[in-house]
Amino acid sequence: MRVVVLSAEDDFDGWRDAARSLVAARVPPGEVVWQVGDAPCDLFSDEALDAVPDAPPLTVSRRFVDLARSVVLHTDPARFGVLYAMLVRLIAEPRRIEDMADPMRRRLEDMAKAVRRDIHKMRAFLRFREVEDDGGERFVAWFEPEHHIVRHNARFFVDRFNAMRWSILTPAVSVHWDGRALSEGPGATREDAPDGDPTEEAWKTYYASIFNPARLKVGAMLKEMPRKYWKNMPETALVGGLIAGARAREVAMIENARTAIPGGNIVSAWQALRDEAAGCTRCPLHLPATQTVFGEGPVDAAMMFVGEQPGDQEDLAGRPFVGPAGQVFDRALAEAGIDRRRIYVTNAVKHFKFEPRGKRRIHSKPGVGEIEACRWWIDQERALVSPRTVVALGATAARSLLGRTVTIARERGRAHELNDGSQLWITVHPSYLLRIDDPGRAAEETARFVDDLKRAGFFVP
Ligand code: URA
Repeated sequence: MRVVVLSAEDDFDGWRDAARSLVAARVPPGEVVWQVGDAPCDLFSDEALDAVPDAPPLTVSRRFVDLARSVVLHTDPARFGVLYAMLVRLIAEPRRIEDMADPMRRRLEDMAKAVRRDIHKMRAFLRFREVEDDGGERFVAWFEPEHHIVRHNARFFVDRFNAMRWSILTPAVSVHWDGRALSEGPGATREDAPDGDPTEEAWKTYYASIFNPARLKVGAMLKEMPRKYWKNMPETALVGGLIAGARAREVAMIENARTAIPGGNIVSAWQALRDEAAGCTRCPLHLPATQTVFGEGPVDAAMMFVGEQPGDQEDLAGRPFVGPAGQVFDRALAEAGIDRRRIYVTNAVKHFKFEPRGKRRIHSKPGVGEIEACRWWIDQERALVSPRTVVALGATAARSLLGRTVTIARERGRAHELNDGSQLWITVHPSYLLRIDDPGRAAEETARFVDDLKRAGFFVP
């Protein structure tokens, strides 16, 4: 048995260096014990464990390295062993990384996904409270992560709150920023963090001023904001009073979300969200439109496709992508091997914008104000569905998802990271393909579109 001692729970570099040496020495996965400090990790055992091939390559795919970087942050004690076993497998069979049916691959993907969600939660729900110390004003936050993400996330807070002096306390480790350098200390307890101060009052005032029960983020509450985090958030203290006067339906909806059993009530939360959207008056587009066209598809879909806005036929049918652009989309999906029944399809803007011309209604592009007004709904859909991969069909969708103007030609063909850690792929809108007159060019562009979809769907089970 070889024992590999890593310096910390999130020691990716240590794991990578050790894995390289083990591969070079052709040590099979079953003969390695991974240990963090003095604490041995679980032995990873799998009957189908492979031997290391004779001439191992010097490099592995970038995708595996990225996956490994996330997986190392998971709390599963077997993660180092599973990663090493996967690495050995990939040496013999590099394409295995694409095999979504492979249980080991799936196990690693699930770990990476849990880590990404935890990273996102910390960024979204951590709250600083103000204290005075010898150096003056300092901001302190308490957070209880599920995985070993604190060091990884520290850079995000340095960038975001660079001019402040702050500390983030967690049970396993504390990180401190003094305006110039990041340092690290031992873990802390909740009592070490302050519990109320002027900053907290500011949060409460802010929250009370923006609160509107009809806009409560049911999806976010359900999936993104477990009760565990509520107690850290000063605005939570206000929720009871603020909702007291809300309409009964909204209160019921909130209660439903709060008491939801994870996974069990997501469908009803989605239905509540869709019902809310049906009455949306956030911008004037609801006036001439027939109805809100909300997203559709499984609420646990791994892939979400976002179009621009419903067209004439979608407006009448109340469903996205059922008209001519929808037919192009369906054919491209089929060619790319993506089953529409397994994806969630929605639009950046939920009402049809058009110019009446005689009896016809001519599509009119939504403006930035309309995209921004509707962004609230797409954010809720994303929080609820939590797809691993999001595909923006066209510039309007890309603008809504990234919050900036996007040039498709420059940004298609590669993955972008969204704020919740999911992957965004940008491609053209199917109606662009319908507008190309030259049949040769249309075929070329359609093939490119299909390629984009294939690439985006590559790592989605
Ligand atoms: N175009 C879109 O962007 N979405 C639809 O639902 C239909 C056409």
